[in-house]
Amino acid sequence: MFKHTMTLVALVSALALGACGNKEEKSGEQAKAAQPLPGDPIKGKAVFEQYCQSCHGADGKGNNGLGANFVEDKSRLAKSNEELLKSIREGKQGKVGTMPAQKGVLTDQQMKDALSYIRKTWGG
Ligand code: HEC
Repeated sequence: MFKHTMTLVALVSALALGACGNKEEKSGEQAKAAQPLPGDPIKGKAVFEQYCQSCHGADGKGNNGLGANFVEDKSRLAKSNEELLKSIREGKQGKVGTMPAQKGVLTDQQMKDALSYIRKTWGG
């Protein structure tokens, strides 16, 4: 009998403890916010198709090495908008090849729109 009582006490306290439960407070850490779009992705799609797609591919994968691969090389879109816009504006030479400067070809707004389309479609 005593043994049963003890078991019961143990059970009840276990239940009580469970009920008080440690509500898991969400820690203040939030998912790192995606980069804000610097322009209009809808206008940017047209810019991309006309000026960027030949090298970057309609699928963003870099058209067999002609342009940076935004899908498989996550380091690209991990960069800030400022950094990427500078690469687009001034051109960029790197491990994949050379991207010609777009200044003089496109307005700053068109470059921002194109980058917005890239971000909206492939992330970062
Ligand atoms: C003639 C081919 C070509 C064209 C046209 C082109 N790119 Fe690129 N782009 C490249 C290459 C090559 C790279 C990678 C350079 C390297 O190896 O770092 C690149 C890299 C980039 C990057 C990543 C830059 C970085 O800092 O890592 C972005 C963003 C980009 N291009 C956007 C654009 C946009 C937007 C357009 C159209 C307005 C465009 N590109 C047109 C070839 C091109």
